[in-house]
Amino acid sequence: MTDVTLVPADSIELSALVTLMNEAYSDYDVPMHIEDASMRFMLSSFDLDRSESRVALLDGAPVAVALLGLRGARAWIGGMGVAPAARRRGLGERVMRAVIERARERGVREVWLEVLTTNARAIPLYERLGFRHVRRLDVLKLAQPPATPAGVTTAPFELEAALEFAKLHRRAEEPWQREEGSVRNWVRDGLALECTAAQVGGRTIGVAIHRIAAGRASMLEMISVPGQESLSTPALLAAAFRPEADQGLRWLNLPQDDAASPIVLGLSPEFEASQHDMRLTL
Ligand SMILES: CC(C)(COP(=O)(O)OP(=O)(O)OC[C@H]1O[C@@H](n2cnc3c(N)ncnc32)[C@H](O)[C@@H]1OP(=O)(O)O)[C@@H](O)C(=O)NCCC(=O)NCCS
Repeated sequence: MTDVTLVPADSIELSALVTLMNEAYSDYDVPMHIEDASMRFMLSSFDLDRSESRVALLDGAPVAVALLGLRGARAWIGGMGVAPAARRRGLGERVMRAVIERARERGVREVWLEVLTTNARAIPLYERLGFRHVRRLDVLKLAQPPATPAGVTTAPFELEAALEFAKLHRRAEEPWQREEGSVRNWVRDGLALECTAAQVGGRTIGVAIHRIAAGRASMLEMISVPGQESLSTPALLAAAFRPEADQGLRWLNLPQDDAASPIVLGLSPEFEASQHDMRLTL
C-alpha cells in the first residue's frame, strides 16, 4: 500500500525541495541543475510562494512538486515535476490541481506557464488541466552585436523612467520572468541592472533594461515607440554588448507577438529553445 500526502512546499527543508526539483528535472530536455542559492533566487525574483506551492509525499518521501508564483490576479507555475520513479500515477496532475486551487482561493483570475515545445509529457498534462496555447516564446542567443543604424545614438537611462516608458509603449505583455514585478524584485535584491535609451535627434525611440552576469549579457526588457523598432532594436542590442560579455547576448522568452521579434529573428540568432506560453483562465 502506498500513501500519498500533499503538503505545502515550505513544510520541507529548502535543500529537500532543491533535491526534489533536481530529481524531477533529471531527464529534462534542457540540462537543469539548481543549488540552494539558485532556488532562493527563483523564489525571490519570481514571487514564488512556498506556502501556497505543493509537494507530494509518497510514503513520506517528497516525489512531486508544483511551485506557484503569485502577483495579484495573476499566478505562474514556476516549475513542476515528478521524480522519474513516481511518474504516471497521477501525481503531476494532483500537485497541479492543488496549486491551481490555491490560486483560485487567493483570487487569481489567470494562471500562466511556459513549456518547451518538445515536452511531450507535460503538454498533454497542461491541456488536460485546461491550459491553452497563447503564443510562442523564443530563447535566443546573439553571438555578435548588430550594427547600430545611422543616426541612432544610445545613452544610459534611468530605471524608473525606463519602466514608465515601457508602460506607455508596451503592446505585447512581457512573460512573467522578465516583467516589471521581476525587475523590481531584482532591484530590491541588489542585482546590477543597466538601462539604455536609443535616441534619434534627441528623441527617445526605445529603451532597454539589461544585465551582464557570468560573461553573458541578458536582455530583460526592450520597448520601442511603435514604428521605430527597426531603428531602436539593433541599437539597443548593440549597446547591451560589452567586452566582458564574451559569450554574447541572451534573450529569454522573447514573445512572437513582440514587435522586436521579427527584427531579432532577422539577425540569425542561435535558437536555444522555443516554448509555448500557456494560460488557464479561472
Ligand atoms: C510532465 C510530468 C510532470 C508528468 O508527471 P506524471 O506524474 O507522470 O503525470 P500524471 O501521471 O499526473 O499524468 C497526467 C497526464 O499527463 C499526461 N502525461 C504524463 N506523462 C505522459 C507521457 N509520458 N506521455 C504522454 N502524456 C503524458 C497524460 O495526459 C496523463 O494522463 P494519463 O496518464 O491518463 O494518460 C513528468 O513527466 C515530469 O516530471 N517530467 C520532467 C519535468 C518536466 O517536464 N516538468 C514540466 C516542466 S514545464
